[in-house]
Amino acid sequence: MKLFKIFPITFAIIIVFAGCLSTKEEPVSSSLEYQDKHRPQFHFTPQANWMNDPNGMFYFKGKYHLFYQYFPDSTVWGPMHWGHAESSDLVHWQHLPIALYPDSLGCIFSGGAVVDNNNTSGLGSEKNPPIIATFTHHDFVGEKAKTNDFQKQSLAYSLNGGYDWKKYDGNPVIPNVEKIKDFRDPKVVWHEESKNWILSLAAYDKVKFYSSQNLIDWTFISDFGIEGDNRLWECPDLFPIQVEGSNEVKWVLIVSIQKEAPNGGTASSYFIGDFDGKNFISDADNQKWLDWGTDNYAFVTWNNLPEKHRQVKGIGWMSNWQYAQTVPTEKWRSAMTLPRELRLSQSSEGYLLKSLPVKELQFLRKDSATISNLEISDEKIIKEIQNPSQAEMVVDLNLAKTDSDAFGFKIYNDLGEKLVIEFNKSTNQMSVDRTQSNVTKFSDVFYEDVHTVPIDLSQEELKLHIFIDVASIEIFINDGEASYTGIFFPSKDFETIALFSKNGEFNISNSKFYSLNSIWNTE
Ligand code: FRU
Repeated sequence: MKLFKIFPITFAIIIVFAGCLSTKEEPVSSSLEYQDKHRPQFHFTPQANWMNDPNGMFYFKGKYHLFYQYFPDSTVWGPMHWGHAESSDLVHWQHLPIALYPDSLGCIFSGGAVVDNNNTSGLGSEKNPPIIATFTHHDFVGEKAKTNDFQKQSLAYSLNGGYDWKKYDGNPVIPNVEKIKDFRDPKVVWHEESKNWILSLAAYDKVKFYSSQNLIDWTFISDFGIEGDNRLWECPDLFPIQVEGSNEVKWVLIVSIQKEAPNGGTASSYFIGDFDGKNFISDADNQKWLDWGTDNYAFVTWNNLPEKHRQVKGIGWMSNWQYAQTVPTEKWRSAMTLPRELRLSQSSEGYLLKSLPVKELQFLRKDSATISNLEISDEKIIKEIQNPSQAEMVVDLNLAKTDSDAFGFKIYNDLGEKLVIEFNKSTNQMSVDRTQSNVTKFSDVFYEDVHTVPIDLSQEELKLHIFIDVASIEIFINDGEASYTGIFFPSKDFETIALFSKNGEFNISNSKFYSLNSIWNTE
């Protein structure tokens, strides 16, 4: 797929008028009034203008850094910069000035960053390790001239922990000799056994791997793809992970896919396998979905997290290229998903990469209500939740005591706009219906289908962990075995949450409901 198909905006206008040399400075602030319509209250959003993929994430000296694809001049996609924010707890974010601006080689597309602790690059010192960002230079002029080599991989480095950046003089470090039109999103990981850095990048329908001892000189080592799959892959992320409850280490390769996601459009997927320093061998022929929802794209992980916790944490872009540029927000466009911890478990169907909301989100809990042993036979409004559009619910269902055909919950306002989440034992599915979430529909495709997620409802129990934040819902099922992320835009915030049951009863063994604080200083 060609880039101008992915970003259905008038590229010509952007090339001529915006060019690649924007120099606008972004104001530094963490205390803006984040009260505008549809603005999530505990998800990361840019202060203003367009954002897509998370980029260059690393942890250093107590701070989680988050960079992101950013266009400071408009609320639609345009010549990309890297926006920047940092956090001490992954929940409260401080906006920082733009980190990377377009230059004469092009705009700054997605990529990663690593802390070069041993100064293998020689760009810093062991006392003051450099942070090395890898990104794609995208040259619009070359794209227009159809040179096919308009995407190349480059470096930038920071000698003060990620606050100021210098582009490497020898850019690009991986030129596009094969002239592959889609050749982008380099992300690096350290491979301890071979003592090499490994870079993964997306080359149309494959991932290409390169190795290096110094993060500057890269050698192509292998590629990985699936026979017969010619969808566009983006934003790969290769990393090791320990299998829960054992010492076994497997390798995960996350790739985001531009079409035919389970509920339409774009989504993040993964393979589990082994990586020997040269080749990635997947255990299965096909990928699994990291998230079954429509709105978790370009999910990637943080580099350099403290080893002792053996944690893998990441974040995704909470939108979908099918409608991202038309969603009805005014000053800004797009949010990130909640930050998530990934865990690898072994199940009867092989390895499973679980996604869980990071524990730090518990800092946001305000008031709580507990309800145990509750039978729902018709409908029950949960009055205990003070603010249903900014809430967390932890619900354990007793499926053994549930004989209802379909049960679930709905969130709605008095305009009749609603979001309905339903579980059906006979189809073994959860469905999420946002088709009536707004009386005025901003896009056809957004309201077209009811989304479905396969879940085994023949078990005794079903555990749900749900976050609702003004314009999004994230549902973590059975301790992260499956997850669903979806966005919606009611013309008035949802005011009520009600549980419902059709033709029978369903039983909640235990549940906790919380209202959550805003992460922004809205005083
Ligand atoms: C994914 C993506 C990347 C690219 C970036 C451009 O959403 O298409 O492949 O680097 O966005 O903004």
